[in-house]
Amino acid sequence: MDIDFHQQKKIINMKKLAIISILTLVVFACSKKTTVTKTSSTEKTSSATVSHERFLAGKTVYEAKCGKCHKLFEPTHGNMESWKKWIGWMAPKAKLTDEETALVTDFVSVNALPN
Ligand code: HEC
Repeated sequence: MDIDFHQQKKIINMKKLAIISILTLVVFACSKKTTVTKTSSTEKTSSATVSHERFLAGKTVYEAKCGKCHKLFEPTHGNMESWKKWIGWMAPKAKLTDEETALVTDFVSVNALPN
């Protein structure tokens, strides 16, 4: 009797665990797809949204490489037309790889002024 009760409790606990695991997976799967939507509806670049991962990775590169010679300019310093010129000029100065250049471009595009 006592053993039965314990076994039942175990089964219930395992069911709970399974439900929690599934819920965690669902939440995790959804959070992976989170995108940073632009603050303005105006189209700034060809890609309308930048994934949260790319935004954060771009921010990291930007903060590490772009504030060495001057202050870190806010993305709102200009529109993407200007940013593409500036980044084209600055990427070699900051010795960015092609991927880092793309990340920085995505990072500023989220909050750049409309063209
Ligand atoms: C080796 C030094 C150096 C590094 C590294 C550097 N810059 Fe610059 N940057 C300059 C100089 C010099 C100027 C022009 C003079 C000024 O505005 O201070 C400039 C100007 C700019 C301007 C123009 C501001 C304006 O209103 O005209 C922007 C924007 C800019 N940099 C962004 C960046 C970004 C983004 C990065 C990283 C990819 C970067 N810089 C890395 C030296 C650097």
